Amino acid sequence: MSNQLPAPDLPATEHSARLVALIQQEIAAAGGWLSFSEYMRLALYAPGLGYYQAGAAKFGEQGDFVTAPEISALFSACLAGQVAEVLVQTGCRTVLELGAGSGLMAADMLLELQRLQELPQRYLILEPSPDLRERQHHLLLQRVPDLLDRVVWLDSLPEKGFSGVIVANEVLDALPVSRFELGSSGAVELGISQEGAGLSVASRPVKGALKEFTGRLASMVDLPVGYRSEVCFAASGLIHSLGGFLDKGAVFLIDYGLPQAEFYSAERSDGTLRCHYRHHVHNDPLLYPGIQDITAWVDFTRVGEAALQAGLNVAAYTTQAHFLLHSGITAQLELRQTDSAVNNAQMSAQVQKLTLPGEMGEVFKVMLLTTDDVLPSTGFQGRDLRVNL
Ligand SMILES: C[S@@+](CC[C@H](N)C(=O)[O-])C[C@H]1O[C@@H](n2cnc3c(N)ncnc32)[C@H](O)[C@@H]1O
Repeated sequence: MSNQLPAPDLPATEHSARLVALIQQEIAAAGGWLSFSEYMRLALYAPGLGYYQAGAAKFGEQGDFVTAPEISALFSACLAGQVAEVLVQTGCRTVLELGAGSGLMAADMLLELQRLQELPQRYLILEPSPDLRERQHHLLLQRVPDLLDRVVWLDSLPEKGFSGVIVANEVLDALPVSRFELGSSGAVELGISQEGAGLSVASRPVKGALKEFTGRLASMVDLPVGYRSEVCFAASGLIHSLGGFLDKGAVFLIDYGLPQAEFYSAERSDGTLRCHYRHHVHNDPLLYPGIQDITAWVDFTRVGEAALQAGLNVAAYTTQAHFLLHSGITAQLELRQTDSAVNNAQMSAQVQKLTLPGEMGEVFKVMLLTTDDVLPSTGFQGRDLRVNL
C-alpha cells in the first residue's frame, strides 16, 4: 500500500514518529491495548500532534482531500440561502458552525447572507483545533474583514437556551469510531497494540455499548464471518448535546453516509473507514498516524435516532444533489457568470462535481434537525428520503 502513495518528507515522518511514540505510551498506560476509537482520537486530535491539531495543509489542492466548500463557493452560498430561510422563519439571529476547517465556508456563507440582507448578529464557530482556529481567523480577516466582528470562536458548545441555526459539513465523519469484527464465536472489538517499534491491530471481546450494538446487528442482519465495520458513538453523543442546548432553530448536517440498512450490509464487508493522504484514498489507519486523515461514513439512521431521543425532529433528509439543485445552485451559477469562458466552465465543472450521482451528489446527504414548529427550508422539497432511514 505505502508503495503506491507519495512518500512523506522528513519533517512529516518525524512528526508521525512522535505521535506513534505518544500512542505507544498510551497503550502501555492502558495495559497493552487501546480501543480503535481512542486511537483515532489521538491520531486526529492529540494536542499538537494529531492530524487536525498540527500544521499540515489538509484541505484543498495542497492538502489531502477536498470538501464541498473548498470545491466551490456555490455550495456555501446555497447553504447560506437555506440558513437564511430558517433565520427569517424563526426570528433567530445566530449561526453556529461546527468544525469550520479552513474557514472558507464561514467566509462564503457570510458574504451570501450579507447579499441576502440576512446577516446574523453573531456567527459562532466551535473548532477544537487551535491550529485551524488560527487559520480560520486569518482567512476571514483576508476575505471578510468587515464581517469579522460578528465571528466568535467558542471553546465549548453552548450550555442551554440557544436559539439559532447550526451547520456542520463533514464533521460527523471526522469523529472517532469503534471498530468491530464478527467472528465465528461472536463479535470482537478491534483496537491497537504495540508491535515492535510500531503499532498493530489487536482484538478483544466486545463489551458494554459495543456488545449490545453488535448483538442487535447480528440478530437483524445476516452478515458473514470476518465482517468488519464501525459504529460512531461520538456522533450520537454530539447530537444529544445539540438537543440539550437548542431551544429554537435547526441543524443542517451534511456528510457522506447511508441509512443503517445499507451501511451494515454483507457487500460492505470491510466497513466504511477510509484514510486520505495527499488525495490518495486507502484503508490502513496505521500507515501514517498524524499526517493522514481517518474518516468513516455516517450512519444517518443512528443520527436520526439520536436526534429523536434528544428531543429534536428529523425534519428532512435528502441527497446533496437534490438539496443544492433546490437551493438554487443553477441560479447562483448564472449570477456569477463572467466574460471569461474559462472561469464559467470551471464553475460548471464544480457544480457537476457537487451534484452528479457518480461524484458527490448521491453519496453525500443533508439531514435537517429542528425544534418544534420549524419547517424545512425549500432545499428539501420534493425528495424526502426519510423513509429509507
Ligand atoms: C473533515 S473536516 C471538515 C472541515 C469543514 N467543515 C469543511 O467542510 O471543509 C472536520 C472538521 O471538524 C472539526 N471537528 C472535529 N471534532 C469536532 C467536534 N467534536 N466539534 C466540532 N468540530 C469538530 C475538525 O477539527 C475539522 O475542522
